[in-house]
Amino acid sequence: MTGVESSDKLRRIHSDIRGEAYQRALAMERAGVEVLKLNTGNPASFGFGMPDSVRRALLANADRAVAYCDPQGMPEARQALVDYHRRQGLQDIDIGDIFIGNGVSELAPMVCSSVLSAGDELLMPAPSYSLWSNAAYLAGGKPVFYVCDEAAGWYPDLDDIARKITPRTKAVLLINPNNPTGQVYAPALVERVAALCRRHGLLLISDEIYDRLIMDGVPFQSAGAVAPDIPVVTLNGLSKSHIICGFRCGWAVVSGPRAQTAQLRDCLLKLASLRLCGNALTQLVIPAAMADEASTRAMLVPGGRFWEQREAACRAMDQLGCIRYLKPQAAFYVFPRIMDPDKIKDDRHFAVDLLEAKHILLVPGSGFDWPAPDHFRLVLLPEPKRLYRAILDVGDFLEGYRQ
Ligand SMILES: Cc1ncc(COP(=O)(O)O)c(C=O)c1O
Repeated sequence: MTGVESSDKLRRIHSDIRGEAYQRALAMERAGVEVLKLNTGNPASFGFGMPDSVRRALLANADRAVAYCDPQGMPEARQALVDYHRRQGLQDIDIGDIFIGNGVSELAPMVCSSVLSAGDELLMPAPSYSLWSNAAYLAGGKPVFYVCDEAAGWYPDLDDIARKITPRTKAVLLINPNNPTGQVYAPALVERVAALCRRHGLLLISDEIYDRLIMDGVPFQSAGAVAPDIPVVTLNGLSKSHIICGFRCGWAVVSGPRAQTAQLRDCLLKLASLRLCGNALTQLVIPAAMADEASTRAMLVPGGRFWEQREAACRAMDQLGCIRYLKPQAAFYVFPRIMDPDKIKDDRHFAVDLLEAKHILLVPGSGFDWPAPDHFRLVLLPEPKRLYRAILDVGDFLEGYRQ
């Protein structure tokens, strides 16, 4: 026997967030080197704690989580989510439209498997959080990337989306607020994407996991609210807004005309049933978390950590002549551009070189399906002073760097 052959379904799967540079960083840490890991959006690893509301709900109810629960999720948790999404403008939904899972990371492959047959296409942004391209590949489908235009506030290029629609296109994905760019799309843009889906009979998938992490009063438009007449799947979760990434708590909401979404809801239920149920412990905290908007908001205003870290990062980036960036409006990421195209031919190589020289781990832009080696993503989660120093260190490295 020559060994176990791997499935070709995994040939295209990639995760640069935990890729080559990350493995190298782990090896450095094992050898006693301190590495500042700016690769994952995992607030708890930077000293953020869960809100008291969540801790209290967890401790008070833990005994109720020992049995398998409903594969779609506990009814009271789903009701709290229905109430939340109705406030966001999704009017005609009930608990039958909510699917709670072990993070959006579990639900994205379920959504893709439900709608993509072999060779079907899912239009998704570039740059893009790689969960979605991986989910499309695993489902046997094909991610087709539309451009988000840096010169236009990183907004999706609608003409590019329209040009790339083919008879195999099944859905358009929006990530709003966006990872890695940190931008929030204006309501008019969301409406135009919905109009495109309406015109071409496409499902609209909207990953809105950062909708509670918007700063500066920038308005947010949930996609399902402007498209009650077409099928929409909205994804969201508590990992970031309530600092409980490790709990694995996310959900999908199916909205739109019921006759048009019946098969999709059947497929999602079938897949949800295969894994019996989502983690019941995390579902117990959903009602308390959705009632606690204050703890999230406190992090997003002057004096709050997310806000102060973003400001410190911008102050540091403003001093670097070698990069340009668009100030993030939400979440805790920035996607700067390296201005000298001759410096970097291979951005994965750049990430490893930076790691070795400065002990800072970041994610190369190509890890977000960005086609040129001229961007990188920084996670803005360390305390402001540390983050500020780290960004100056990145600038210092870039000044003298050539490939
Ligand atoms: C855009 C986006 N969607 C989904 C996820 C995954 O979230 P979860 O923790 O719910 O699996 C992330 C995590 O960083 C993300 O950035």
